[in-house]
Parts: sequence; structure tokens; C-alpha cells
Amino acid sequence: MEIRLAPGAPDTVEADALVLFCHDGVKPSGMADARLADLYDSGEFTGKSLEIAILHSASGLKAKRLVLAGAGAEAKFTAAEARNLSGSVLRTLKGKGIRSIAVSLGASASDEFISAVVEGAILGDFEPDRHKTDPKKNDKHVDSFTVLGTSQVAVDRGSILGEAQNFSRSLSNEPGNLLTPTKLAEHAREVAAACGLECDVLDEDRMRQLGMGSLLGVSMGSAEPAALIVLKYTPAGGAESKDHLGLVGKGVTFDTGGISIKPSDGMEKMKYDMAGGAAVIGAMQAISKLKPSVQVTALIPTVENMPGSRAQRPGDIVTSMSGKTVEVLNTDAEGRLILIDAITYAKQLGCTHLVDAATLTGAIVVALGSLRIGAFTNDEGFLQKVLAASQTEGEKMWQMPMDEEYKESLKSAFADLGNIGGRAGGSITAAMFIREFVGETPWVHLDIAGTAWLDEAKPYMAKGPTGICVRTFARLASNW
Ligand code: BES
Ligand code: ZN
Ligand code: ZN
Repeated sequence: MEIRLAPGAPDTVEADALVLFCHDGVKPSGMADARLADLYDSGEFTGKSLEIAILHSASGLKAKRLVLAGAGAEAKFTAAEARNLSGSVLRTLKGKGIRSIAVSLGASASDEFISAVVEGAILGDFEPDRHKTDPKKNDKHVDSFTVLGTSQVAVDRGSILGEAQNFSRSLSNEPGNLLTPTKLAEHAREVAAACGLECDVLDEDRMRQLGMGSLLGVSMGSAEPAALIVLKYTPAGGAESKDHLGLVGKGVTFDTGGISIKPSDGMEKMKYDMAGGAAVIGAMQAISKLKPSVQVTALIPTVENMPGSRAQRPGDIVTSMSGKTVEVLNTDAEGRLILIDAITYAKQLGCTHLVDAATLTGAIVVALGSLRIGAFTNDEGFLQKVLAASQTEGEKMWQMPMDEEYKESLKSAFADLGNIGGRAGGSITAAMFIREFVGETPWVHLDIAGTAWLDEAKPYMAKGPTGICVRTFARLASNW
């Protein structure tokens, strides 16, 4: 789908559909066709959020159809609402075989809204069906999405973010047989080459030399070798401050649970256990194009968690890169084991601020469902920056507690720490575990197990991977 910007009045634009965003109870002005009033008078269209009405051959328009898109109450219409509305419109029209769409946002639309509308269209266009072979599946696609306006900057920003998020979604959607740690590293290398990022992929030998026993332990049961992917963005004119943002993403390409094996019901979804890593790679793609003034390094520890004959056992004790020992009480709590070595390495590379994104716990799904990301921190000020970025981008978060008392349950009789607490407060004890390896560096941990995957399609987004965190990370870097 081509994204275009066109100047000009809505009545002169040639397209299969001209879309107007209409607020609750506010009839669009300046439209000549009397049938528009009929739509309102009959109650068929009111402007309620995500409502859509289509009028063919409206008088005074060059476009073949006039599409009214319900924007809800004007006071509540945020950029996040605009993004979702745009996605819903795109998905509805695509389903009807409409090929060219033009959207008129009015002269007063801010750059933020324009970007959001472009993002929404690109996100709405994504389908998780690339492995279907039926040629008919591609019958319905939109060729062009045109924004009527003048802000090229806003359209470009929206395109960059929408494409980066969809790239992240396409990675998370790949099955475990096709997306191994080695493959994920290849994708990261390709992004780096295309975007002018530095890329370093540490293989198992290098990780062994660095003492990453915790990460390597998880990989033991798999025939696929582990990797630690590092992508570096350096601002062109040199960084403005000595701050160095580290983005760490969990990259478990498939999580069987290992010897503490998961129930088979629903296990197929564990292909998205690398969604944190995918978010970080997508964000780096966007960051390379948005060119913020802060130095950013991404680290993606990537492994496959399998119960092979060499797999680590419950009760095994591993020595992490930090020197601390961990008793692996449950091999299914593997995410934290790979993150801690990546975090220690991030600090060695000079990162002054750390954010990690991980599909870490089922417990966060129980606590917050699929709406909000669980956010944990050792630094309230830094968390506020991350929350501000997430709010602007409409990626909802909720701060979770980290009282010292929660640490109690991580005690091990045989090593410095056990890798699990009890069943209670599972997402919190997971965060407490990681915190032990972060030290004083300002750090935010984002548990995205509930938000990285949609079990049911939304009007604006297909079922499957969401690409959550890509926009927040890009915004965090550009706000720096
Ligand atoms: N990858 C899972 C967490 C997960 C659950 C992600 C549901 C997405 C959806 C993680 O590695 C895991 O298995 N966590 C365990 C931890 C437990 C053994 C302490 C969990 O949440 O059950
Ligand atoms: Zn697991
Ligand atoms: Zn996992």
C-alpha cells in the first residue's frame, strides 16, 4: 500500500473512497448531497466511535464513494482514537474490495493526528496470513492511502512508525521452525545494513568467554545455537549528552517450557515469546530513520527453550555474567535467565538507562489482561519518561509495585537466588529477580505477555501479533 500526501479540496480528489471523520452528532458541513442528512435523520449514522457509513456517487464529489467514519465525542478524540479509527476504516473498506482511499482531516489537524492516521492505516493493512497459499487471499488489498493535507513530516513519521511496527509484528508471527535464533539474528543484520546501524551478533563461544552461563543454560536443550544480537545507533553529529539508552528485548523464538514443560493446550502461541526482541528491532529501524539525538543500543538475547537431552534440569545451578549464581527451580522461567546476562552486558557497553520488554509472565495476563503493559522500575523519574512516551503513543501501561518484601520468595538454599518466587505475585517476583542484576542503573521493565498478542481481531487490527512497544521506544528516544 502506497501512502501519499495530496494537497487540494476533498471534492476534487479522485479515489474509490473519500473518508470524513465525523464526531458524534456533528454533521459534516460543506457536503452538497441531501442523502447525507438522510443517513443522520434515519439514525443509520450518528458519529459514534468506529461507526462507518458508505454513500455511493455523492453529488459534488469526484470520489466514487463518501465514507463517514464515526469519531465519537470531539473532546475525547485523541490521536490514539484517530489511529484506531483509521485502521478500522481501512480494514472495512479493504474487505469490500476498495483499492484507493483518501482521508480528509480538515486544515486544523495537528501533525500528531496526521501521523496517527497514517500509522492506523498501515497497521490495519497488516494480515498475519503470509503462509497461506490460496491466491485469492490477495484479492482484496488497498493500493493507495492518501492524506489530504500539507505536512509531509507528519506523514513520513507515521509511515516510519507504522512500517516498523508491522515489521515487528511479522517477526513475532513467524513460527518457531522458520524463525530460529540464527534467523532472528539474520533479520537484525538485514535491518542494520538497510538502516545504517552497527550490528554485532555474539555467538555461543563469545558468550561463554563473557561468562553468560545463565543465558547459555537456557539454550542447552535446543539444537539451535543461541545468540546475543546487538544493534547500535549513534547520532550523526555525536550525542547531545552522555546518556546512552539500552533497549533489551526477550528473544525466545519458541518456549516449550523446557524440562518444566508447558501443557500442550495453547503452546503453539509460544512462537511470540520473542515479541520483546521484535519490538526492539522494529524500534531500532524507526530510530535509524527518525534520528534522535541520543545514543541507543539494542540487545536481544535469543534462544529456543527446548527439553532436549542436554537440556538444563530443575535444580541446576548456573553462574550469570554478573558472577551471581542462580538455582533454576523452573526451566519455564527462562526469560529472566537470558535477560539478566544481556543486561549485565548492556551495562558493560556503557548503557546509562535500561528498558527491557519481555513476554515474561502469565501472571501479568491475569493481573492486567490484554489492555495494559505491566511496568516496573527502580527509578520513578525514568519510569515517568517511559510512561509519557507510552501515553503519547497510545500504548497503555500500568505501574506495578516492587516492595523489598517481594524479594523474600526468591531465596534459594543452594545458590544466590532461585529463578522463581511462588505462584502469588508472579510478575512482580520476576521483575524483582531481574532488578537484582540491574544495580543502580535507572531501569524500566515492561512485561508484555498480555499485550503482544491479540487472541481476537479488533476492528482496527488483525488477530495475532500487535507490535506493542515499537512506538513507545521510538518516542522515548526522540523525546530524549
Ligand atoms: N513465555 C512465558 C510467559 C508467557 C505466558 C508469555 C503467557 C505469553 C503468554 C514465560 O517464559 C513463562 O513460561 N513464565 C512462567 C513463569 C513461571 C514458571 C514462574 C509463567 O508465567 O507461567
Ligand atoms: Zn517460559
Ligand atoms: Zn518465555
